[in-house]
Amino acid sequence: MNDVNITWHQHAVSREAREAANGHRGCVVWFTGLSGCGKSTVANVVDHLLHQRGARTFLLDGDNVRHGLSASPEILAKKHGEEFASRFGLGFSAVDREENIRRIGSVAELFSQAGLITLAAFVSPYRKDRDAVRAIVNAERNGDFVEVFVDTPLEVCESRDPKGLYKMARAGKIKGFTGIDAPYEPPASPEIALAGGDATPEVLAAQVVTWLEKNAILDPAG
Ligand code: ADX
Repeated sequence: MNDVNITWHQHAVSREAREAANGHRGCVVWFTGLSGCGKSTVANVVDHLLHQRGARTFLLDGDNVRHGLSASPEILAKKHGEEFASRFGLGFSAVDREENIRRIGSVAELFSQAGLITLAAFVSPYRKDRDAVRAIVNAERNGDFVEVFVDTPLEVCESRDPKGLYKMARAGKIKGFTGIDAPYEPPASPEIALAGGDATPEVLAAQVVTWLEKNAILDPAG
C-alpha cells in the first residue's frame, strides 16, 4: 500500500509489442516557442509526413487542448459550476501554465507508451516545466523526449500576429502575454533548433523527420 492507496498495474500488452507492430518507437516530440513562431504549423506538417509513411502519430496542440483537458474557468463554469471552474480551470499565470504543461506532459507520456510518435506544440515558456516533462518521459526510457525549439524572432511572430493577440497585448488588453509582459525561457540544449523565421514550414518539418531517422526513432527506409 502506498500513501494514496493506488497500485501500478503491469499491462498485458507491452510497449515493445506495440512498437514492433507499429514499426517505430514511441516518443514525445515537444515543440516550444513564442505564440506565432510556427510550432503548430510545423508540427502539423511533421504529423502529415509521418502519417503518410504509415507511422502512428498524434498531435497535441495548444489551442485545442485549452478547449478540453486544460479548459479555462469560463468554459468549465458553464457545465460544472463556479467552485469546479475555479479549482480546475486554467489561464496563463505561471502556475496555470505549469499545470497545463504537467497535464499535457502526462498525456504525452501515456501516448508514447502506447507506441505513438506524440507531437506536442505548446508555448511552454518555462524551462523548469519542460524539463519536468523531459524527466518523466526519459525516466521511462532515456532519449524519448525530443525538444524542438522553434526559434522565430519576436519581431517576426509579432508581424505575423495570426490571431491579433500581440496587438491586444501591446494595447494592454491582454496581460501576461508571452514575449511582451511575460517571459519566454529558450531551451538551453534542445535536441533540434529550427530557424523559424528563415524557412518554410515544409523545410523545417523535413529537418525534424531527418532527425528522427538519424536517431533511430523512424526507419529511414520509410
Ligand atoms: S502555455 O504557455 O501554457 O504553454 P499554450 O501553448 O497552452 O500556452 O497556449 C498558448 C496560446 O494561447 C497562444 O498561441 C495564444 O493563442 C493564446 N494565449 C492567450 N493568452 C495568452 C498569453 N497570455 N500568453 C501566451 N499565449 C496566450
